[in-house]
Amino acid sequence: MSTPDVRAYYEDSYHFDEDVERPNFARLWRALRFLEPLQGAAFLDLGSGVGWATNLALSRGGAALGVGLDFSGRALTSAKRFTPGGSWVHADGTRLPFVDASFDRAFSFGSLEHFPDVRGGLRELYRVLKGGALAVVVVPNFWVRTDQPLEFRATRRGWTQLLTESGFRVLRVGTDWGPSILKNRKPLRVVLRVLVRLVSLVPALRYQFVFVVQKADAAPSGERGRDRKP
Ligand SMILES: C[S@@+](CC[C@H](N)C(=O)[O-])C[C@H]1O[C@@H](n2cnc3c(N)ncnc32)[C@H](O)[C@@H]1O
Repeated sequence: MSTPDVRAYYEDSYHFDEDVERPNFARLWRALRFLEPLQGAAFLDLGSGVGWATNLALSRGGAALGVGLDFSGRALTSAKRFTPGGSWVHADGTRLPFVDASFDRAFSFGSLEHFPDVRGGLRELYRVLKGGALAVVVVPNFWVRTDQPLEFRATRRGWTQLLTESGFRVLRVGTDWGPSILKNRKPLRVVLRVLVRLVSLVPALRYQFVFVVQKADAAPSGERGRDRKP
């Protein structure tokens, strides 16, 4: 699928309206809390959708700067409306319009696997983080399918390899159990979500991985600890 077609899908078809109407703050926070402390941090959400993670990082986490980047104008229109305190950037996640070492914390939930160049997205994420900064990258297991046009598939081992090849140190791997069972009440969807939960009970088949990763600390040993966020 060509890039314009992929963009058209997010402009015309993706369920951003449902994301606005039924945010799942508890699910997002379960992944975001691994980035604490967020207080005073410069925070980036890569593939932000309608912006709820940035909203939480600012309102609950106390981030000083909350930047959400997405290539869907439709998503960012909602993000601006519901989180006017965020900074919203319309750009491609594989070419970030930020200088090196701009952010203390980064988050990407269910987005990187849809980039046309996943390695390029991870390289960019690494580049824009400060030395020693933390990121949470939530990505699906190999068997997960959605309606989205591009879907990179990997096991936990495959994602770990990609992250380490991009320079990140993997600190821990948590689980995201998927959308809440009653996200909407379409009977077939409810049944599918119950099945997803059951399958995810098998560790190798968990739904999504919550990778907590760190950029190597680039500061020379004498500088370590100075000018860094707690
Ligand atoms: C499954 S949605 C997840 C959105 C949000 N993170 C959330 O949790 O609701 C995937 C998002 O990735 C964005 N996206 C896909 N490819 C992208 C790219 N190359 N650059 C920037 N954003 C992209 C889409 O527009 C969409 O908002």
